[in-house]
Amino acid sequence: MKAAVAGTGYVGLFTGVILSELGHSVICIDTDRGKVALMDMGQPPIHEPGLAPMMKKNLEAGRLCFTTDYEEGCKGADAIFIAVGTPEDKNGRADLRFVREACMSIGRAVTSDVTVVTKSTVPVGTNDLIKDWINFELRDSSFEASVVSNPEFLRQGSAVHDSLYADRVIIGADDQNAGDLVEALYFPLNLPVIRTDIRSAEMIKYASNAFLAMKISFINEIAQLSERIGADVEEVAAGMGKDERIGSRFLQAGIGYGGSCFPKDTKALKGMAGDMGYSFKLLDAVEQVNMQQQTVLVEKALNRFGSVDGLRVTVLGLSFKPNTDDMREAPSVVIINQLLALGAHVSAYDPAAAAKAKNILPSSVRLVHELELSLYNSDFVFLVTDWAEFKRMDLRKVKWYTKQGILFDGRNIFSSEEARQAGIEYHSIGRPV
Ligand code: UGA
Repeated sequence: MKAAVAGTGYVGLFTGVILSELGHSVICIDTDRGKVALMDMGQPPIHEPGLAPMMKKNLEAGRLCFTTDYEEGCKGADAIFIAVGTPEDKNGRADLRFVREACMSIGRAVTSDVTVVTKSTVPVGTNDLIKDWINFELRDSSFEASVVSNPEFLRQGSAVHDSLYADRVIIGADDQNAGDLVEALYFPLNLPVIRTDIRSAEMIKYASNAFLAMKISFINEIAQLSERIGADVEEVAAGMGKDERIGSRFLQAGIGYGGSCFPKDTKALKGMAGDMGYSFKLLDAVEQVNMQQQTVLVEKALNRFGSVDGLRVTVLGLSFKPNTDDMREAPSVVIINQLLALGAHVSAYDPAAAAKAKNILPSSVRLVHELELSLYNSDFVFLVTDWAEFKRMDLRKVKWYTKQGILFDGRNIFSSEEARQAGIEYHSIGRPV
């Protein structure tokens, strides 16, 4: 089958590459000429394990190509995916500007009836608008658009795996044939397919992200309490997770969730509820706990040192999670700004995000390109992102290279026993010292 994908951000590029991997002929459309030229040469604009080889393979096989031209992209496409960004607007709502622009471009470009598949995370009800926007452009023709909501659930850092082995494919369609067409596109993956109406599919996306965010905030509150009461949150989470009704994933206590999805989608869902005259009380708490959790490392350092004024701090990890260079809503930014406001001197190391971080962090932050160098001569270390490189690190380096050998582990990647053996002072989240 032939598919077009409008927008080559994370979701769009992955949709295009995976569909081509399944044997479909895919053309990805993006208005950014520079980006399209790079992707055409097989260079993905994002850091994601496994993406570049898969992209190259399908480019070479002639199943995948890129264009800036909607007419070229939409020509003969069985389905056109919309995967443009829906950033947060100043009121915390999803900004649909790019979706609307894509709809107008699609409506002007198509030369037959068209099935439009929405991958972008859009507020419940938006697919009705999408249909109207495209059909408005088609008003002088005999063609018509059908829309299908097909939300994406992949995680950055494990997107290839998540796409190929997804737990489910959600297909929300009011038009049976359009839904069948999208189901046929995914057929080679042999995944469980759930067919729903359009609004339920749109809601499944928000409800899933909000639920996962709630799970994280819940375990972070259990961590807060565990510290005060003498329990170990890691053992609590392991014990809870064995109950299949709860599940073990997304119960990792830490410094709060970040990224381009959970913060934005929880806010947007709250906003949608507000628009309907309903107050989503649980989500208020989820957000509050998350903000509080981002300050937990600095509080621990203040408890330990009294003041951090003039102290040298090494921050290990900047991206909001490992295996990505994405800095959007990264807790590291909040933590570093707090440290700077309190007069600390900050050095930071990240295996992938330094280039992006440079544009976001204040220039007083020293970005170091080697782990050991970043540790050198610092008073204490904050571990902020759970990169594998840090998990593999010989903990004795903290003792050898820093002044006092003190580590605050914001992701609980080490155990107290490992720290004791390395001879360092170790602080973590929700565990006895
Ligand atoms: C999230 C969802 O997991 C995906 O299913 C969804 O498709 C995506 O949003 C999206 O809407 O596009 P992502 O933001 O890439 O994926 O990353 P996650 O792995 O979910 O992590 C989000 C944040 O939660 C990170 O800051 C991570 O460190 C934190 N986290 C995650 C925890 O603090 N504890 C956990 O147990 C899990």
